[in-house]
Amino acid sequence: MEAKHDVLVVGAGCAGMRAAIAAHDIGADVALISKIHPVRSHSGAAEGGINAALGNASEDDPEKHAFDTVKGSDFLGDQDAIEILCEAAPEDVYELERWGAIFSRTEDGRIAQRPFGAAGEPRTAYAADITGHVLVHVLYEQVMKREIPAYEEFFAWQLVIDDGRCQGVIAWDLLNGGLKSLGAKTVILATGGAGRLYSGTTNAYACTGDGMAMALRVGVPLKDMEMMQFHPTTLAPTGVLITEGCRGEGAYLLNSEGKRFLERYAPNAMELASRDVISRAEQTEIDEGRGVDGNVLLDLRHLGADRIHERLHGTRELSMVFAGVDPINEPIPVRPGAHYHMGGVDTDVWGKTSLEGLYAAGECACVSVHGANRLGGNALMETITFGRRAGAHAAEWALANTTVEVPPSVEADAERELRHLLDRADGERPWAIRDELARTMHENFGVFRREQLMRGQGDIVAGLRERYQRVVVDDKGNVFNNDLTQALELGFLLELADCMIVSGLARKESRGAHARPYDFPERDDENYMRHTLVAWADDRPRVDWTPVTVTKWQPQERTY
Ligand code: FUM
Repeated sequence: MEAKHDVLVVGAGCAGMRAAIAAHDIGADVALISKIHPVRSHSGAAEGGINAALGNASEDDPEKHAFDTVKGSDFLGDQDAIEILCEAAPEDVYELERWGAIFSRTEDGRIAQRPFGAAGEPRTAYAADITGHVLVHVLYEQVMKREIPAYEEFFAWQLVIDDGRCQGVIAWDLLNGGLKSLGAKTVILATGGAGRLYSGTTNAYACTGDGMAMALRVGVPLKDMEMMQFHPTTLAPTGVLITEGCRGEGAYLLNSEGKRFLERYAPNAMELASRDVISRAEQTEIDEGRGVDGNVLLDLRHLGADRIHERLHGTRELSMVFAGVDPINEPIPVRPGAHYHMGGVDTDVWGKTSLEGLYAAGECACVSVHGANRLGGNALMETITFGRRAGAHAAEWALANTTVEVPPSVEADAERELRHLLDRADGERPWAIRDELARTMHENFGVFRREQLMRGQGDIVAGLRERYQRVVVDDKGNVFNNDLTQALELGFLLELADCMIVSGLARKESRGAHARPYDFPERDDENYMRHTLVAWADDRPRVDWTPVTVTKWQPQERTY
């Protein structure tokens, strides 16, 4: 064993760093491990803001925030978790402010808040349109101030299980090569989402669902995996995120006829309806021939150059660099793209999984506060509040319990498995499988879902998994062997795709991001107001169900 800690946090985005800070402040010996440098984490790509009922722009309170979140989740979110989030959010945001987060300001100096989709009040605190970037840097400063060690550029590959509990991680050292085992009394998974399952995605190349797949492989179930959110405004053709903050500031969505088509789909909220509603509206416009080269148009021109420079400068830069469009003068071509996994590792409200010693927080976890559809701005808030809670609980448990063991047999098994892959001289290159997976997931498990296509995608993934058994890694070297790590990531992605498909087939209704307009167009609360729970058994995913926690809000019709 290379090293051991009380708490080891896998992933160093907002959830991971916030968890590490909490664990440290309770007195635990905590370390971070990340396959990229912490400030390059995908949390930095969150643009529009973070939701907390500060009440700086209107009369707001945590109860309204909670109701909007429950409704936004299409009544699949667990209401106890949602209430915890919304109650804690204001103080958690003020703590970030005290740590130096440079939020945009109101005229009288308070934290500014903008409207966001499906929120009854302007509740989204923001730092122009680079909020995630700001938060990642603030958290990294706090990590450095506490001298929390970070194993940077270590690729976490396997969880160590001994004596019925999680006791560490086996990782590949990206800089020097070689497997390293890191022991820990508790491990917190904070590895983010798996948007790279799709060809059109806002997600960074690093978002390959590593933590979800590692948990699955040691018997921890994943919850609501069918719930992949499509963000309505991703830039054509790259999938780069164009923030909902644009619509929060008043931007319009137009079809090829120059019409604000949301009049037909969400006549009250219009561009500020929930993401699932807007993505479906856009896809319908595109499918029915009212798109523009497979896109719709996001029009910011009426906002004026000053407002765009002040609050949406990042959006302008992204549009100019990646699409050659200056939004001051022209509308931006956008389309729905895979953005956020509402599903993930099943945890309780402290981030605890069913495996002793293993926790999860942030997008890789499913607490569940987002249910079937997440509200924009609630993801950053979840990383902070539930990262903090997971870090605190994991630290308390670790400090009250003693030994850590990484048995030599576990290290030897991992080494043998890796050698088996690296020693293979012939076979198929992983990228072809990865491309096919992403393209077909987009075609067959996207905004709208059809039974036949989902079943077909199940067969495709089975075929890809078969081919994956014969992949060859050409680079046999030790230094930054991305060929190797991408092959390992592909293994993760393939298993997660399988989990999504079986969960999607099992959910015979339309709810939030899971839209089946052709066979089950309605939400069916009687049979399906419950979470899917998928576990891995005999090399296959198996679906089970678990109830939704309802505290005070009964399901009602969801219109915007
Ligand atoms: O549109 C956005 O700025 C994304 C925010 C989010 O997903 O929370």
